[in-house]
Amino acid sequence: MSQSPQPTPSGPSVERDPRYDMAALYERRESERFALHSQRLNEMWVRVLKTIGYDVGFVRGSGQYLFDRAGDRYLDLLSGWGVFAVGRNHPALRQALESVLDAQLPNLVQLDVSALAGVLAEKLLAYTPWLEKAFFANSGTESVEAAVKFARAATGRPGVVHCAHSFHGLTYGALSMNGDGVFKKGFEPLLPHSREIPFDDLPALEQALSARDVAAFFVEPIQGKGVNIPKVDYLSSAAALCRKYGTLFVADEIQTGVGRTGSFLAIDHYSVEPDMVLLAKALSGGHVPVGVVLTRKWIFDKVFDRMDRAVVHGSTFAKNDLAMASGIATIDVLQNERVIENAKTRGERLLRSFASMAERYELVSEVRGKGLMIGVEFGKPTSFKLRTAWNILEAVNSGLFCQLISIPLFKDHKVLTQVAGHGNHTIKLLPPLTIDDSDCDWIERSFDAVIADAHKAPGAVWSLGKTLAEHAIKARVGG
Ligand SMILES: Cc1ncc(COP(=O)(O)O)c(C=O)c1O
Repeated sequence: MSQSPQPTPSGPSVERDPRYDMAALYERRESERFALHSQRLNEMWVRVLKTIGYDVGFVRGSGQYLFDRAGDRYLDLLSGWGVFAVGRNHPALRQALESVLDAQLPNLVQLDVSALAGVLAEKLLAYTPWLEKAFFANSGTESVEAAVKFARAATGRPGVVHCAHSFHGLTYGALSMNGDGVFKKGFEPLLPHSREIPFDDLPALEQALSARDVAAFFVEPIQGKGVNIPKVDYLSSAAALCRKYGTLFVADEIQTGVGRTGSFLAIDHYSVEPDMVLLAKALSGGHVPVGVVLTRKWIFDKVFDRMDRAVVHGSTFAKNDLAMASGIATIDVLQNERVIENAKTRGERLLRSFASMAERYELVSEVRGKGLMIGVEFGKPTSFKLRTAWNILEAVNSGLFCQLISIPLFKDHKVLTQVAGHGNHTIKLLPPLTIDDSDCDWIERSFDAVIADAHKAPGAVWSLGKTLAEHAIKARVGG
């Protein structure tokens, strides 16, 4: 019997074809990227970037650093909105992904299951021993959508409750639980039976749950927008209230999870066992999007309850081998390189330094954080000159002040930060969890210098404020 030739595990060796050299393409078209995006993608975003002067052309990323086309090194305190917990292009991640491609794994056969998804589920559920099942998705918001559906199916109830200032994603179910009206405007009507309550408010939660029509309470243990930290007993008491009224308690750890706060999950700080835990962002290693719902078995079994409902919820690309490999490698790096411990100790050091700045600088009103999720909040100063400058800027655009800190941090100190939400006075630090003491020195030196400058009115920082205010007014009138 003749047999068809078997491919070698590493596949046929082929000459590298320059047409598929994406790095060369990236370099060749780099100078056109803003034009391409203005013309074919989101022109408004390009305008924002140009207004704040972030046009340096990053050409390489390694660990916690970015390198621009001039070869300058930047410290990234944004980490792609929290995806690069183990830093950019970690060798373990690259090796894991290359191994999947080199082996030519079958991937997404669909009428089969891959060992890699099983292994990642096993690794994740080891962190949540009270949960037994994992459901994979392709993003954070998809994990939230799955949890909404699971909660409704498991309880037979329609309602979902979320907190003011929450962020759970931007697809319809998640958007219906968004605590910031800016994201919702123009997209209504949203999911019915969605209700907002204040964060960290147990009486409001009890009142919302008491009609016993709420399927789930969705909460970020530490809110991303603003870095809001609840009182120490809030989450465990909220879980108890949920139990009392038959509501599922869902911890959205999409931003706080996978080591960010100095423990694998933020709920680990609060002795609470949610019915569902949602992860995404950092689990991807920054490379291949992934999301997951970790859940109690009985909830899962209510959804996937018969063979003819085995695919009643899912998504084509979920559980793909590259995403699973990224998750597995990320968890291994966290463990092998003691990354979570690093997040805890470096976070404590930074919090101490910022607390000392809050004592020295009247513009710094509060510093909050856990691990390497830190918010530095600015507030109305007391001295007359600064207060007047602050009031003028606030009148034009509440929250614009933070740009007076983040722009000089970027331009003068090569530190990339973000403002923690609309109309917010908090700068958020969300660096790779691998930062070292020299990075902490860099952060402390830069923030101290920029904040000191902001206390000089008139001065360079406030004249930047004038320029930004003019831009904001122009944008409002459609300029
Ligand atoms: C707490 C939280 N939940 C959900 C999401 C949505 O995740 P994704 O952007 O992957 O859809 C985010 C994203 O920022 C988040 O911070």
